[in-house]
Amino acid sequence: MCGIVGYIGNREAFPILMKGLHRLEYRGYDSAGVALINSNGELGVYKAKGKVSDLETFVSDKDVTGNIGIAHTRWATHGEPCQENAHPHYSSNGRLAIIHNGIIENYMEIKKHLIECGFIFRSDTDTEVLVQLIQYVQDTENVSLVSAVQLALKQVIGAYAIAVLDKEQPEQIIAARKSSPLVIGIGDDEYFLASDAMPIVEYTKRVIYVEDDTIAVIRKGDALRILDLNNVEHNPEVKHVELSIGQLEKGGFPHFMLKEIFEQPQCIANCMKGRISQDLGEVKLSSVIDYKERLLGAHRFIILACGTSWHAGLIGKYLLESMCHVPVEVEYASEFRYRDPVITPNDVVIAISQSGETADTLAALKLAKKKGAFIYGICNAVGSSIPRETDTGSYIHVGPEIGVASTKAFTGQVTVLTLLALALAKEKGTISNVAYQKIIRELDAIPEKMQEVLKQNDAIADLSKIFTYAHNLIYLGRGYCYPVALEGALKLKEISYIHAEGYPAAEMKHGPIALIDAEMPVVVIATHNTLYEKIVSNIQEVKARKGKIIALVTKGDTVVSKLADHVIELPSTLECLDPLITTIPLQLLGYHVAVHKGKDVDQPRNLAKSVTVE
Ligand code: F6R
Repeated sequence: MCGIVGYIGNREAFPILMKGLHRLEYRGYDSAGVALINSNGELGVYKAKGKVSDLETFVSDKDVTGNIGIAHTRWATHGEPCQENAHPHYSSNGRLAIIHNGIIENYMEIKKHLIECGFIFRSDTDTEVLVQLIQYVQDTENVSLVSAVQLALKQVIGAYAIAVLDKEQPEQIIAARKSSPLVIGIGDDEYFLASDAMPIVEYTKRVIYVEDDTIAVIRKGDALRILDLNNVEHNPEVKHVELSIGQLEKGGFPHFMLKEIFEQPQCIANCMKGRISQDLGEVKLSSVIDYKERLLGAHRFIILACGTSWHAGLIGKYLLESMCHVPVEVEYASEFRYRDPVITPNDVVIAISQSGETADTLAALKLAKKKGAFIYGICNAVGSSIPRETDTGSYIHVGPEIGVASTKAFTGQVTVLTLLALALAKEKGTISNVAYQKIIRELDAIPEKMQEVLKQNDAIADLSKIFTYAHNLIYLGRGYCYPVALEGALKLKEISYIHAEGYPAAEMKHGPIALIDAEMPVVVIATHNTLYEKIVSNIQEVKARKGKIIALVTKGDTVVSKLADHVIELPSTLECLDPLITTIPLQLLGYHVAVHKGKDVDQPRNLAKSVTVE
């Protein structure tokens, strides 16, 4: 979703801002813009519909000099994607420019009042209302920009990360945050501002994660000041970011998504590092050690997540229920937050999120927290909002995920859920030592088995050609592989725009079977496990209706291999670890279909990587 970048210092701001916007492209957007104050104190605002490269072309004959500026990628919410609605937005007097990520919910009411006061609006956005409101407060109260921003934000309901330039104060950026991410990088006599650390790490590793309901006064040559809306000073904590530039580049792969699929063996090894001791045969999660009583006392786990993370949550349910014998509910965060869910202090909520910024997951966990639940976070983006709201948790440590379609984060989430289930089950005594040891040993083998799967990339690329012109696909799985079927279908539809549905294989008879004919490809996860015989029957049912079967089977399989039209052979593993292996060919299948169709794999239409609005 919307991305924010800002710079103030001694260098030319424009190249830094553009590079920053490119680094944020992964978030998803439909227009871009920049505001700069040049050495004559003139404020220039330039905007373009489309990509950051369109903006760069648009400004090629414009004055983009200046040592201070703000820039933005917009993902449309209020008003269509067009130049007028792109950010930055001007105040009526042309003095202020603002960029914003979030939604001002009461913008209609404020806009009505401002129109009555004579303000003229040039866009359909909620953001323009905010900049006009700041001007209105400045005019009517005769206060400084800092006070005007504070007073304006007190009137606003909603979520925001903003940055404001005032051409009368060309040595200052005012930024503020509530429920939308904002990071400030501290350089030598210069400051950087961004929605996440990615645009910043190239220049400095020292950052401040701006807290909710605070504003930052960023002045060249002065110490950074953080104030709340009542002007109380806060002491910001400077953190060190571990990101490296190599992690933010494609490293020879044609797309980030493919790079991230191929990184999975290493990511999973990193995720387990220091958490599994093969010598001692044990799993150690610091969160479980530190909060043992609270976690072992859980009467129920509630997993909250969205999208791919929700699919990982479903696998978490299977793992926790079978190993720990505790009931687990898996909820869409967006539904949970608007129900009146029954939560007791004995509940443990597990919030899963790659970005750590998903607005619905964040709001749902805050609700659960308010109702007394203990909150455990499973996130990837270090320092993001969700981990800061949780009582404890585990990072998945898979490195930045830039492709919009989540891949390595999913397998990282499933790995952490497996470690969590193992650690808790061992403490509870609900798993036999033999089973515990067996899973630990097999986890050690998973990265190598993932490598084996990745060797089939070329074969899967060939196979995927036959789906290029399919209009619908069905994905079937059972047990631990049912969520994998959901995830496989999601991967395909989000990047290739082909309609795909995932189902528990046996559920097919209750409706979807009507869709099956000779035109319908059906992807079936049919690895050797306790439900193998059952899935063979489901395959027969599809075959009887002439559906085309693409089966994922365990190496050496003879039964399904004969029934299927196409087969992908996978190394065998334990049933509870099957998702870590079976997901990979489905990621590759989705990826190659999209490439064959010529789609923008890393930035599919309408999608945002970090869904910071509800
Ligand atoms: C799909 C995908 C999304 C995210 C969802 C939640 O490939 O990436 O479905 O999984 O938007 O995002 P996070 O995990 O950041 O909370």
